[in-house]
Amino acid sequence: MEKVLKGPVAVHVMTKKKAEGFQPFETFCCGDPAEDDGDIAKAIEEVHDIVARLHSGDAVTQTVVILEEEGGKLGSGKLVGLCGVRRLKLFETLAGPQAVAALPPGGYINVIGTDQRYRGYKVKKGGTSPGRHLLGRALKQINKEWGGGQMPYVWAAVRQGNQPSVDIFKARGFKTQPPPFGGFMLRPGRRGNLNLQIQINVQVPPGGPSLE
Ligand SMILES: CC(C)(COP(=O)(O)OP(=O)(O)OC[C@H]1O[C@@H](n2cnc3c(N)ncnc32)[C@H](O)[C@@H]1OP(=O)(O)O)[C@@H](O)C(=O)NCCC(=O)NCCS
Repeated sequence: MEKVLKGPVAVHVMTKKKAEGFQPFETFCCGDPAEDDGDIAKAIEEVHDIVARLHSGDAVTQTVVILEEEGGKLGSGKLVGLCGVRRLKLFETLAGPQAVAALPPGGYINVIGTDQRYRGYKVKKGGTSPGRHLLGRALKQINKEWGGGQMPYVWAAVRQGNQPSVDIFKARGFKTQPPPFGGFMLRPGRRGNLNLQIQINVQVPPGGPSLE
């Protein structure tokens, strides 16, 4: 039987300030790193770390889109998942702002995770998964924050062994980058020109890139 979220399914957008102290983040759990191996376990740890920092107020500035089951006003439903977005130029965290100065600005998916209780769920009957739905809403939020119109490029650090994550990014138009940037996925935008001769000497850490 198809598992479907109980309605109303609510999407809320929170500033970093509003996310601080948001109680559902305290108990949010997108998996047990001890039960998974490799890339999925690392991703779970990173997501938990960022959610803890959002809760404590120590996270970088970002907008957080959340999905709630049986929702209404913010915080009244059950937290299904969250996705944090911010402005960041491609590879800026790796190469430093100077190395990417010639690039147009872009959006970055800082974090995405769904509570492990909702594995295999669909947002509605015959619909899409909560993670994919959230990512779609997060892209809409980026578009809104850029004043509408043409989408900027959007990128994300995604471990290639994390298949559930790779799947949602691919479904939303992101493409895996060639080595040594294989830990990143990029969704080309229509705003700005990314086809510049980019000469970035970036060292991707052996354990793969981190999310934030
Ligand atoms: C990646 C993620 C957001 C995708 O969420 P989603 O789109 O709602 O999809 P699900 O979590 O249901 O995963 C999709 C499928 O992979 C399976 N899956 C997810 N995590 C799994 C795991 N750790 N082990 C085995 N299977 C897993 C699900 O059961 C589901 O199977 P189905 O298609 O047969 O129903 C979510 O799996 C998650 O929060 N993962 C942990 C944190 C993470 O990796 N974040 C991304 C960092 S870049």
